[in-house]
Order: sequence, then C-alpha cells, then structure tokens
Amino acid sequence: MRTPWRVPLMRHAFPRERCTRRALSRFVLEAPRLSMGEQCREFERAFARGQGRRHAVLFNSGASANLALLQALRNLGRLKARERVGFSAVTWATNVMPIIQLGCRPVPIDCNPATLNSMAADVRARLRQTELRALFLTNALGFTGDLPAIRDLARRRGIILLEDNCESLGTMLPEGRSGNFGLASTSSFFVGHHLSTIEGGMAATDDPELVQMLRIVRANGWDRNLTPRQADGWRRRFRVDDFQARYAFYDLGYNLRPTELTGFLGLRQVRQIAECARRRQENYIRVESALSANPDLMPLDRSHIRRLSSFAIPVMCRTPHLRRVYTERFVRAGIESRPLIAGNMERQPFYAKYVRERYPLPGADLIHHCAFYCGNRPDMSRAELNLIVRCLRPQA
Ligand SMILES: Cc1ncc(COP(=O)(O)O)c(C=O)c1O
Repeated sequence: MRTPWRVPLMRHAFPRERCTRRALSRFVLEAPRLSMGEQCREFERAFARGQGRRHAVLFNSGASANLALLQALRNLGRLKARERVGFSAVTWATNVMPIIQLGCRPVPIDCNPATLNSMAADVRARLRQTELRALFLTNALGFTGDLPAIRDLARRRGIILLEDNCESLGTMLPEGRSGNFGLASTSSFFVGHHLSTIEGGMAATDDPELVQMLRIVRANGWDRNLTPRQADGWRRRFRVDDFQARYAFYDLGYNLRPTELTGFLGLRQVRQIAECARRRQENYIRVESALSANPDLMPLDRSHIRRLSSFAIPVMCRTPHLRRVYTERFVRAGIESRPLIAGNMERQPFYAKYVRERYPLPGADLIHHCAFYCGNRPDMSRAELNLIVRCLRPQA
C-alpha cells in the first residue's frame, strides 16, 4: 500500500502481506466454490472457539453484523419498535444507525475520558433519566469500560447487553474476554483491524435461538444456512414442503453474506489474534510513558484491563487548542491521525437529522473536542514508535 505518511494508520492489507496475497491467489484459482461455504463455516467454528463463545456467524462487514444483530432481536420480539437502546456516545456510526433504522430510540450513554468508554456509573446516571431495553456498548480502541459491573447492572435491570467489539478483539479483563460480557458481540475484519479479511465481520453469542435468527437475517430471511433439523422446524411450523422451501422467506432479512475469500482469509489469521494483540500492547506501552509524562495530556486508565488489544494510540489533550498543537505536530512529522472515532455521536449530522431527544454528555464532548489517535500496527518499527514518542513531548 503506497502512502505519503511516514507513520500511516495502516501499511498492509494483511499481517503477512506477501504470503497471504500469494495464498489468496492460489485459493481463487483452485477453490471449488467462491460463494459462502465450508471456509466460512470453518472460520466461524474457529473464531467461536478462540473467543470462548458457542456460536459465531460471519458477515460481509462489521456494520452488517451490527445491523443483523439488532434485526435478529427485533424479529425475535426481544426488542420492539419505540423501545430505547442505550449506546456509547463515542462510537462508530453504524452501531447507532440500525437502532434508528429499526424503529427503536437511541439513547447515548456518556463516556469517561480516562477510559474512553461508558462506565457502570454512566449507565446508572442515564437510567435515572430513562428506561432502557438494551445497551449496545462499544469497546473503543482496545479499551473497555468496567464491563463486569455493567453486566451486573444490566442483569439486575433486565436490560439486554450487547458489545460492539470491532476495535477490541483480543482485549482481556481479569473477568474474561471483551465481547463475552453480554448476550452477543460483534467484530470487524476490515483492513487494519486485529484480523483482516479486507471486508468482513462476525457476531458471536451462546444463545441458540439468536444464532439461528442471525443466519436467517444474513441471507434473505430463508432457512438454507440452518442445520437440517432447524430448517425442518421452520418448514413444519409454516407448512412449507421441500420444493417450496427453496424460496420460503420466514422473517425480515438482507443479503449480508461473506464470500469464501472472507472465510479463507479469516481462517489463516484466527490463531494469530493473541500474538497480534501482544505486539499492539507492547507498542502502546512504549508510548504510554510519553503520554503520562506530558502535562498537556490527560492520562488514560487501563488498570481494569489485563491485556490491551490496542487498536490505535489515543491522545487526550487537555484543551481543543492543545489538540490543534499536537495534531499539527503529527502532520509535520508525517504521522497520520484521526479524530477519536465519531466523537460525541449527538454532534454528527445524521444523528441531528433523525433524533430529537438530547442528553448531557460532558465526557463525550471532551473526547469530541480534545482527543485524537494515530495508528498502532503490529508491524510498527522502533523508528516509527520513537517518532510518535518525540511528538508527544510537552511544548517548550
Ligand atoms: C466500533 C466499530 N464498530 C463497527 C465498525 C464497522 O465495521 P466495518 O467497517 O467492518 O463495517 C467499526 C469500523 O471500524 C468500528 O470501529
């Protein structure tokens, strides 16, 4: 990948670029089929095993996994139109858009600038203002909130907890892996994520009813990707014979299927997730001392996290002016940077167009105006990390 940056957000499409591209070319030439099949199924099984979940369903993107997850809950009647769904105010847009598209009401939960995530205290504060049927929280940039406390709170209040783990695959808390604290979680395998299938995503859960519905939602609302026993159940319930069953559509769905290329690429990398997370954590630790030694910056707290599967290196400046100073410094040094995901989601144009309700979000606002991030790739060189550290020195 050609880039004008000395430290780009991403340099390669895959962790082992040349040999993965060669293997992919061979696979394309020789594979008996290229539409969703055995490679995808094997990747799902391997992913579920590695994540410690019973089931995983592969999609053509992380956004598709998010959409399908909420559609599946709507189809099952566990989430109804007009019900309120809480979401991390600092997140990716396609975690919030399906809440609106599916007729539910999005409620932003504030995020703590020290952990970049919604904490149990933020959820509790919102619950004092409004009821929630579900919480769709994002584990941002490899960090998480205090997920065990959030899980307990959600259980006590009968709230469905979902995790968007698209940026935190491989992060471990003492109480378990990120992505395993709620009913289900989603991952993204877009280039630059912890595992890259070019485009791709996954939903993981232990719930047998939900996994069946996710497969129905993924492909047109039909039963073709269910086990024979499950398909038989749907056919009997709706009195559909085997001939008609080829084109029987049981509930609302889309076409969000991956291809065998997605399965092939994922399967090659699934065992490297831990190693990739380890390297990214090492990089982060190398830069962390510079972050904490600089009085222009706010320190980040990862004391509740055992392994930080760092997605990028976040920088929390104390003021918007300081963010300008440091981002300009990064540009001059050739380090590519970005705002901290979508910032405060309430400030995004699409949100203002479709949602009227507003909530106080002081933490998310601080992140919106004062934070940015640069890349943290597993293949980052010492020289690249040293350059980032130099740019994080306090102003003279
Ligand atoms: C937190 C989060 N959720 C969802 C997504 C969407 O994933 P995709 O780009 O695979 O659709 C992203 C993308 O980076 C993300 O960062």
